[in-house]
Amino acid sequence: MPFAHITGWGISVPEPILTNDDIAKMVDTNDEWIRDRTGIRERHIAREDQSTSTLAVEAAIKALQVANLAPTDLDLIIVTSSSPEYIFPATACLVQDQIGATKAGAFDLLAACSGFIYAVNMAAQSIRSGSIKNALVIGSETLSRFVNWKDRNTCILFGDGAGAFVLQASDQPGGVLSAVMHSDGSGADSLTLLGGGARHPATELTVHEGKHFVQMDGKAVFRFATRVMGAATKEALELAGLTTADVDWVIPHQANFRIIETAAKYLKMPMDKFVVNVDRYGNTSTASIPIAAVEAVEKGQLKAGHKIVFVGFGAGLTWGALAAEWTGPMPAKKHVHPEQYRLFARLRSLLRRALRYIEGLLSRREL
Ligand code: UT7
Repeated sequence: MPFAHITGWGISVPEPILTNDDIAKMVDTNDEWIRDRTGIRERHIAREDQSTSTLAVEAAIKALQVANLAPTDLDLIIVTSSSPEYIFPATACLVQDQIGATKAGAFDLLAACSGFIYAVNMAAQSIRSGSIKNALVIGSETLSRFVNWKDRNTCILFGDGAGAFVLQASDQPGGVLSAVMHSDGSGADSLTLLGGGARHPATELTVHEGKHFVQMDGKAVFRFATRVMGAATKEALELAGLTTADVDWVIPHQANFRIIETAAKYLKMPMDKFVVNVDRYGNTSTASIPIAAVEAVEKGQLKAGHKIVFVGFGAGLTWGALAAEWTGPMPAKKHVHPEQYRLFARLRSLLRRALRYIEGLLSRREL
C-alpha cells in the first residue's frame, strides 16, 4: 500500500493588515481586550481584487513549485473553505482551470475550520487506496467578506489567507500516519452563516436580519473547543502508535491563544511544542493550519523526519486531528516550472470559452 507524503507547501496572505486599534475605530473594543481574550494583535484582509480563488491559486502554485510537480500531473484538487467563491461551481474547479491541472478531478469540502484536516485525510486516503498518485489540498478564505464589521463578538477574530499542500504517493514509509474526524450537528447553531442557502435564500429580509454574516455563540464554541482539542490529538497519536513524547510539533487551528493553552495543559505538553501565529493572522479558518505549518518550515523549525499533529475544530460542529511524519520534496528527475502552466491555462480557458460560444451560435442557427 503506498504512503501519502506531504511534498509541497505554499501560502498566500494578502498584504493589507488590520490592527486591533483599527478595529477599535469601528466597534466598541480595544487592543488590550482583544489580546487578553484571544491573543490576536492583527490580521490580514484581502484587497478588493483578491478573493478565495485567487489566494488559493497563489498558494497552489507555490506548493507545486516546492514539490517540483507540474499541474498536469495532479489527479485531484480539494479546496476547503468557509468562504468559498460561490455556492457552486466549486472553488476547486476555478483553481483547476487557472493552474492548468488538465487531468485533475476537483471538488470543495465543507467542514468549516476543521476542513483542512478532513481534506488532507481524504487526499491521503485516496493515495493510500492506490486510486490516485498526486493531490493538491488547499484551505483558502476571504472571511472578511462575511464578517459583520459592526459586531464586536465576531469581527475581531477573523482574517484572510490561503495555504496549500501537495500530497504524493511513495513506497517509502512516512507521510500521513493517522487521522480522526468527528462531528456533532446538535451544536450546529453555535456558529453559522445562514443566508444564501436553500433554507434562507437571499431576500431583502435576510440582508436586513444579518443572515449573510457569520454569527457565533463565542462561549459555547470556546467550551466545545477546549473539550475536544486535546482529546482528538491523543486519539490520532494512539492510532499512529505514538505518544506525546514522540511529537516534535503540534500545529493547531489558530482561533484563540487560550484554547491552544488549554489543549497544551490537557496533553501535559510545553507550549513551545505548539506552533502559534494567531497573534499575526487571527483566525483564518481552513487556512490557519497550513499557514502555521509553512511558517514553521520557513523559520527552520519544522524539518524532514519530524513527527507532527494537526488538530482543529469548527462550525458544524466538527473537529479532528491528523498525525504525520513531515517529509519534503521528492528527489527531482527534472526541474518543472508550475507557474509557466498558468499562461497556457489562461489561453486554453479562453479558447474553450470561445469554442463554447461558437457552438452556441451554431446550434441556434440550426434551430
Ligand atoms: O474557528 C472557530 C471560531 N470561533 C472561535 O474559536 C470562538 C471561540 N470563542 C472565543 O474565542 C471567545 O468566546 C471570544 C473571544 C469570542 C469571547 O471571549 P469571552 O471571554 O468568551 O467573552 P464573552 O463573550 O463572555 O464576553 C465578555 C464580555 C461581555 O460583556 P459583559 O456582558 O460581561 O458586560 C461582552 O459584551 O466582553 C464583552 N465583549 C467585548 N468587549 C470588548 C465581547 N466582545 C468584546 C470585544 N471588545 N470585542
